[in-house]
Amino acid sequence: MEQVIAQASVLSQHLWWQHGVIYQIYPRSFQDSNDDGVGDLPGIISRLDYLQWLGVDCVWLSPVFSSPMADFGYDISDYQGIHPLFGTMDDFDELLKEVHNRGMKLLLDLVPNHTSDQHPWFLESKSSRDNPKRDWYIWHDGKNDGGLPNNWLSVFGGHAWEWDDTTQQYYYHAFLKEQPDLNWRNPEVQEAMMNVMRFWLDKGIDGFRVDVMWHMIKDAQLRDNPPFPGSTYDANDLIYDHYTPVYSTDQPEVHDIVRMMRAVTDEYDERVLIGEIYLPIHKLVTYYGQDNKGAHLPFNFQLLTLPWDAPQIAMAIDEYEGALPENGWPNWVLGNHDKPRISSRVGRAQAKVAALMLLTLRGTPTIYYGDEIGMRDVPIPMNEIVDPQGLNMPDLNVSRDPSRTPMQWSSDINAGFSGHKPWLRLPINSGRVNVDRQKDNEYSKLSFYRKLIRLRKEHAALNIGDYRPIYADQQLISYIREWGDEQFLIILNLSHRPAYFKPRQESFTGTILLGTEVERIGMIAEDIITLGGDEGLLIQLSNTK
Ligand code: NOJ
Repeated sequence: MEQVIAQASVLSQHLWWQHGVIYQIYPRSFQDSNDDGVGDLPGIISRLDYLQWLGVDCVWLSPVFSSPMADFGYDISDYQGIHPLFGTMDDFDELLKEVHNRGMKLLLDLVPNHTSDQHPWFLESKSSRDNPKRDWYIWHDGKNDGGLPNNWLSVFGGHAWEWDDTTQQYYYHAFLKEQPDLNWRNPEVQEAMMNVMRFWLDKGIDGFRVDVMWHMIKDAQLRDNPPFPGSTYDANDLIYDHYTPVYSTDQPEVHDIVRMMRAVTDEYDERVLIGEIYLPIHKLVTYYGQDNKGAHLPFNFQLLTLPWDAPQIAMAIDEYEGALPENGWPNWVLGNHDKPRISSRVGRAQAKVAALMLLTLRGTPTIYYGDEIGMRDVPIPMNEIVDPQGLNMPDLNVSRDPSRTPMQWSSDINAGFSGHKPWLRLPINSGRVNVDRQKDNEYSKLSFYRKLIRLRKEHAALNIGDYRPIYADQQLISYIREWGDEQFLIILNLSHRPAYFKPRQESFTGTILLGTEVERIGMIAEDIITLGGDEGLLIQLSNTK
């Protein structure tokens, strides 16, 4: 009892977003309440008890706003309206209340880089060159010969400039042509978006995940992006990754905007600002901002983007820990709606090892819905692809549909997600891989996640404790988490073969508190510790020498 009280008081010295676990919901796919095949807000409300049972502290919703759905909600036509597919504003208010009633937090997705081409701002902007909102977007003449303003490409393939016949200029869109980029150099745009933030913060939401934060400002001179080193320049090559977006993203001035967003966030108590940023570590950490007045958590996607290779991951963890600014709080992400699911990427056998890593590294973890039951990318036949990224680049196999499929709740029809055929198909094994089947099975992934989340709550060392790397080789990563008198050793075997943990300088003795193999729980581990292939151990140390 005393221990529990002591832990609670340690945690209370940290903010909720430092010791909590974030859970991302892709609203179209969590729970359908009105049998139209698409998830909605009342559906999410009906599943909040599950999230509370799982032990997560915070729910982040991908966009639920008014949208023509060209990019499934990341093309917003009214930042202050709820799309009828998801419900009403009353449903939203109810959701917020119910989340808070359960002691949890709610984050929304803010998409400030671009709007929908149906947003009234853009409709005005494109109506004439002298419309007061003309400069709210990035309009440009063609080059002398009528060519494109520069060589920038859309992330979704093809040129990033779209010709507008009426006003005889191009506009810039980093994503779809239905997603024109706002001109963040314009103070009116800044003010409008700060007011959007205030609207939701006034309602009581607990913060934002900011979409493509590093895209928000582009080079004032619109200089050409250089080809990616090693790739040959070819004007017909319209693949985004073949260029280095040095002039279209991560511009120095973006930090002023992030600071402005943070200042608005700080007008309210204990709200959090998270940035979606795909950049190398040394650049990523600049988004904490000067004096930590930038994003609270620039999302750290190392575990999503690196090969699943022990030396590379061990190095990235240490590089990240070393690069964090003083008082910059770390975070880790294992899955999201844009990337293949972890269980497909690293394989079923490694999925628990990955979870153990996510939930024992120092920093705020973000879990992607369904990963806790080991959901995998669902093979979607070509003629069922709906993701614009997949449709635009059919030869590259980059559709994001496979990782956005409905949550698998039960063995019922449509896995308990909906009474209607879902908007994306379920896997053939959803009758076997689902929450109901795993809930009371101590060997399941779901039980593993739940136990880990509980252990983080019970032991400050695992949560806000210090991190110390111990040993890594071709197969293993290991580190210690410590706080006060408590020390935990985590050993992760990222390979399929058995491995020996044998650090040269130190030897350790302790009790296995949790492991990927349930049978090992409670056993003593000491000296050279042998691990099976795909095994991970969480050991409470009794002594170190
Ligand atoms: C990042 C989002 O996560 C992704 O789903 C979306 O397509 C792009 N931004 C454009 O908004």
